[in-house]
Amino acid sequence: MRPLSIFALAMLVGLLTACNDMHDQPSIKAQEAPRRSASGEAVPLRGKLPVDWQGTYANPEPDTGSSRKRGEELYLVNCAICHGTRDSYLGPVGKALAPPPPSLHDPRIRALNDSDLFKRIALGFGRMPAFERLIPANDRWHLVNYLHTFR
Ligand code: HEC
Repeated sequence: MRPLSIFALAMLVGLLTACNDMHDQPSIKAQEAPRRSASGEAVPLRGKLPVDWQGTYANPEPDTGSSRKRGEELYLVNCAICHGTRDSYLGPVGKALAPPPPSLHDPRIRALNDSDLFKRIALGFGRMPAFERLIPANDRWHLVNYLHTFR
């Protein structure tokens, strides 16, 4: 066959199947099932949240350099304002609190396991705000891995 007729044939097949697809396609109106499921990054804004104080949670994020790096970015945005950076105790809001937040280098806090740290970040602790609705779970685990560097 000459290249031109192969091309013409390909166009014809393409056209025919395209017509078929349009004829058979499902017609789904807005808000009608099937709904696409939420992405893994989504944070629930309403309803029951998956973390509670009674639970024990296993860290699914391997404690790698890139995980700690991500945790550090999140720490500087969400935590340093109160707790300060790893090298300087207390940020501007932390200094204004009386009594101030504990140093995250404190032996009692360094002794907390991953599940305990994860729950404190998710649910808040005393005067510390809850981050469960603000930071997705996998990012909270990256924060936990970053807190290992305070040990
Ligand atoms: C608005 C200020 C504030 C922010 C923001 C904040 N914290 Fe805290 N945090 C506190 C205070 C205050 C305490 C001590 C609890 C108390 O005395 O009520 C605390 C306690 C803690 C503790 C120790 C809990 C214990 O067992 O004593 C950890 C761990 C911690 N914070 C981690 C974090 C991380 C990680 C972030 C960021 C995701 C964060 N905090 C953000 C104020 C803050």
